[in-house]
Amino acid sequence: MSEKVKIGFIGAGGIAETHAKYYRQSSAVEFAAVADIDIERAKRFSKAYNIPEENVFKEYEEMLDKVPLDGVSICTPHKYHSAPTVYALKKGVHVLVEKPMATSAKEALEMLRAAIQYRRILMVGFQNRFSSEIIAARRFVESGLLGGFYYGETVEGRERRRAVPPRLTFIDKELSGGGVLLDLGCYAIDNAMYILGYPEVVRVSGHIYTTLGRDEKAASVVGSWGSWDVNRFSVEDFAVGRIVLKNGAVLWLKVAWAMHNDDLGRPFFLGLKGGLKLYPLEIFRDESGYMTTSKVVLPQKDPWMDKIGRFIEAITKGLSSPIDPRESVYEMVILDALYQSSSRNGEEVRIHVPDEVQPILNNIVLG
Ligand SMILES: NC(=O)c1ccc[n+]([C@@H]2O[C@H](COP(=O)([O-])OP(=O)(O)OC[C@H]3O[C@@H](n4cnc5c(N)ncnc54)[C@H](O)[C@@H]3O)[C@@H](O)[C@H]2O)c1
Repeated sequence: MSEKVKIGFIGAGGIAETHAKYYRQSSAVEFAAVADIDIERAKRFSKAYNIPEENVFKEYEEMLDKVPLDGVSICTPHKYHSAPTVYALKKGVHVLVEKPMATSAKEALEMLRAAIQYRRILMVGFQNRFSSEIIAARRFVESGLLGGFYYGETVEGRERRRAVPPRLTFIDKELSGGGVLLDLGCYAIDNAMYILGYPEVVRVSGHIYTTLGRDEKAASVVGSWGSWDVNRFSVEDFAVGRIVLKNGAVLWLKVAWAMHNDDLGRPFFLGLKGGLKLYPLEIFRDESGYMTTSKVVLPQKDPWMDKIGRFIEAITKGLSSPIDPRESVYEMVILDALYQSSSRNGEEVRIHVPDEVQPILNNIVLG
């Protein structure tokens, strides 16, 4: 590999700017190419980051065919995560793809298989994996805090009284493939599964709702994230799910983009020996004959530094993906099943874990 890591971008919208901001922190990175179906956007991006004019493309295939790259950030709407990922991996390019991994378990599995076949890094961009709080929560659980997990709640967008992402990328099903369950549900599942160490899920049931998303008045209230096009709003804005683990433990999932409420409650996990709650991280247990509550002192750090930094490091040092892509596939299997269940009015759906993913399962937390 040349001494600089040549990075390309597929999709040059909002989150690509964030990727670029953090890549810029590393002197090892060269901004080599960009592709966006909106060519004007690609051109603006190339000017901002000094990408040579001849390396600006409308089609990502052409970019990957013509420009030798080490890695690519895929920052397109969810529906366009899978195809460019597989194409890039086939070309021998390492991939950092934005969350959610894909819009179905089938797409996610194709991505994983390509990463295995072409021996390239495939990392789904969950910056929460590098947050002090989530890492600390996992460490407490790993060290046996819970002693038999039996109930938890995993929540994202808990204070989103009116925070619908206004871009079509999120609210038009043709681009997103799904609404808040994909957009925030992927974090809710990733946080919980990572903290619990990937226990075996056996069945799920889910319900999705389109509530304020199609309401003109709700879209125009003062103090929201801004108005959105209610006529193009074709996804859910609220979702709940019941995720049942092998030992009968239940994990509730709640996600919202908009609601007439100020909070959905903090995520928490209960075990026979102890419990923990997030935001802020608190630990509950019995000690020396008393019930104690501990607040954990966490280092301040920006998880995005590690999200981008660890991807670059993995490329330069030939390491495996900083986030095991099998974990991301497993989470897509759960999300997919929640959508299936919600399309059948909450009927339970059994989980089928692909063979490639089986080795990550670990039931220690179930006691
Ligand atoms: N990790 C995070 O915190 C975070 C935050 C925001 C968004 N995201 C994710 O990033 C992705 C993009 O979101 P965004 O906010 O940047 O959206 P955006 O609408 O601002 O940008 C998407 C860009 O992709 C381009 N595009 C669409 N189809 C394409 C294709 N086939 N080939 C090339 N370019 C294409 C669009 O023209 C647009 O410029 C989403 O999947 C979203 O979930 C992650």
